[in-house]
Amino acid sequence: MTITPADAAQRDAAIDIVVAAQRSPATACAYLGTEAEGIRAELDDLDTPWQETLRVAVDPSGRVVGAVLHDVDPEDTMRSWIHGPWTLDDRTWSEHAVPLVRAALEQLPPGVERHELSAAPAHTGMARLAADLGWHATGVSIAYRATTATAQRWPAAAPDARVATPADLDALTSLHDEAFPGTYASARQLLADEARATLVLERDGEVAGYASGEIQADGAGYLDFLAIAPGHRGTGLAPGMLSAISRELLRRSGQGTVDLVVDEVNAPAVALYEGFGYVRDAELLGYRSWPQPQPQRAG
Ligand SMILES: CC(C)(COP(=O)(O)OP(=O)(O)OC[C@H]1O[C@@H](n2cnc3c(N)ncnc32)[C@H](O)[C@@H]1OP(=O)(O)O)[C@@H](O)C(=O)NCCC(=O)NCCS
Repeated sequence: MTITPADAAQRDAAIDIVVAAQRSPATACAYLGTEAEGIRAELDDLDTPWQETLRVAVDPSGRVVGAVLHDVDPEDTMRSWIHGPWTLDDRTWSEHAVPLVRAALEQLPPGVERHELSAAPAHTGMARLAADLGWHATGVSIAYRATTATAQRWPAAAPDARVATPADLDALTSLHDEAFPGTYASARQLLADEARATLVLERDGEVAGYASGEIQADGAGYLDFLAIAPGHRGTGLAPGMLSAISRELLRRSGQGTVDLVVDEVNAPAVALYEGFGYVRDAELLGYRSWPQPQPQRAG
């Protein structure tokens, strides 16, 4: 068995394996979708060119039997996301999954010390792989999706929700850091990213809530942050904020969808999204190379 960078033919073979594996939660990694076209679009949208990070496992007959790739966010260069691994079948998984991940890790620049991968709880091979690597399972998250049809049932958007500006930086930073400690994007990055929709809601002259999302490469809206300031929670602000950001992302989404991911144990958020008719799309389980409590991601 050999693990190598891929030439053009091996890249095509690897993509076929990825697309086949992504179809089932038992073999998919959670970061990519399930449709061939969307998978390619998301790969092309990674920060690190996937053609460079792709490593393939090749059997003695020269056939590609497995693949893996990674991504490092230029804004958070301590951390890598491992995409895959994917293999042809269970037998090739047992043989190649660990060496593939190790091959991905070996190419990382110095200083990238935290690694993460993610799959559905149904992907038992990934759980075994993580155990073999000595990585830790984080909590289960739920992926939700809303569509234009769901939006008919939503309450009105908060009329005073407005686009966040640089003047909101300090308030946004304290809210964001309290609600999503250690997450992948800082409040400053949210504000600087013109492709994002970041909205805030004020009460009594202070920022009482915010929400931020973007459109992904495959055209789906993605709401990754929503929080109400601790002193304003439980006062009914969340639905107006959620309605405002969801409507904005739907409007921008070529697919007419909004996705989000929430920790299963975050009862207020789960109740909020289910009340909005967001539908459970998938369950995700993250595995991390470092032993830290999981920062909340997405919302
Ligand atoms: C999730 C969050 C935005 C909800 O805001 P909130 O101000 O508490 O919510 P609201 O008072 O506006 O209530 C809106 C709905 O949320 C749900 N909800 C709020 N608090 C709840 C609780 N403690 N338990 C269960 N459901 C709750 C209810 O469905 C409620 O609808 P109802 O009033 O008809 O019962 C807020 O808890 C928060 O900022 N949490 C930290 C950040 C976070 O976890 N964001 C989501 C990440 S995915």
